[in-house]
Amino acid sequence: MTRLANFVGNRSMSELYDTYWVPAALDVFARGLAESVAPGNRVLDLACGTGLVAGYAAARAGVEGEVVGYDPTPGLLDAARAKSFPGAAITWIEGSGESMPFRDGEFDIVLCHQGMQYVTNRESTMAEVRRVLKTGGLFHVGVWASAPRQPAFGFVEDALAKHIGPEQKPVHAFSFGGLSELRRIAEAAGLTVQRLETVERPWRFRSVQEFVDVQIACAGRTNEDGQLAMGLVDLEDENWLPAIEAFTADAHAALAPYVGEHGLAAPFASDEMSARA
Ligand SMILES: C[S@@+](CC[C@H](N)C(=O)[O-])C[C@H]1O[C@@H](n2cnc3c(N)ncnc32)[C@H](O)[C@@H]1O
Repeated sequence: MTRLANFVGNRSMSELYDTYWVPAALDVFARGLAESVAPGNRVLDLACGTGLVAGYAAARAGVEGEVVGYDPTPGLLDAARAKSFPGAAITWIEGSGESMPFRDGEFDIVLCHQGMQYVTNRESTMAEVRRVLKTGGLFHVGVWASAPRQPAFGFVEDALAKHIGPEQKPVHAFSFGGLSELRRIAEAAGLTVQRLETVERPWRFRSVQEFVDVQIACAGRTNEDGQLAMGLVDLEDENWLPAIEAFTADAHAALAPYVGEHGLAAPFASDEMSARA
């Protein structure tokens, strides 16, 4: 068995996601996105995954509020259902953003954290967001900035394309297209943009090696069936070992300035938008 196959072991996609991506990269951005939720709000967490943003929204909405977590990937939703979150009751519903089973004007706030780059039709998803928001309701969304705009991790895209294969570019997580694309699809859906901002916060991993392992074994991408899948290569296939070693060498070179006694901590950029219905 290869070292990376051993690293993954029998762990499910949701376990890997919650163990590595959430604390290293997603948590600090997700908490910020939920900050505008007020007591009593009815909130939709679109592309909720394992429930990270829904949990923060429930704590803020309190017992008078209601939260719906909505996502097409059953394995992630099952992990969300198994958790207990304080505050508002959370209902977990399976489905895609392009067509949502909610009434017009049902929500005060829709949140979508690192999900819009994975939907297969962003225009219809945005139109659905507009439809399910009350008049005056708010949509807060975050999508990672593209690789060339990433202050520390920009090398990832070129290094993967060079060593693993050209089809790795653009990296799915970085593929959205920036603030102007957020504005374009929001305005096309009839939303009024109130804030467009690139936010920088640190991504933290125990080491460069841990970052490489997570990037190769646990990078997310949308499958043919519209669900999230993980991993860039067949981890059991030893033919990939030289390519993975070459990517590891590039990562050590690029990330050396960000390694300290507590591991790797390097700035990462997310494009955020707040828009009103
Ligand atoms: C990187 S995860 C983000 C999960 C969560 N928001 C978080 O911050 O931890 C991307 C999510 O987008 C979801 N997704 C993919 N395609 C989607 C679609 N068409 N509609 C809604 N969500 C989708 C995936 O299932 C996955 O849970």
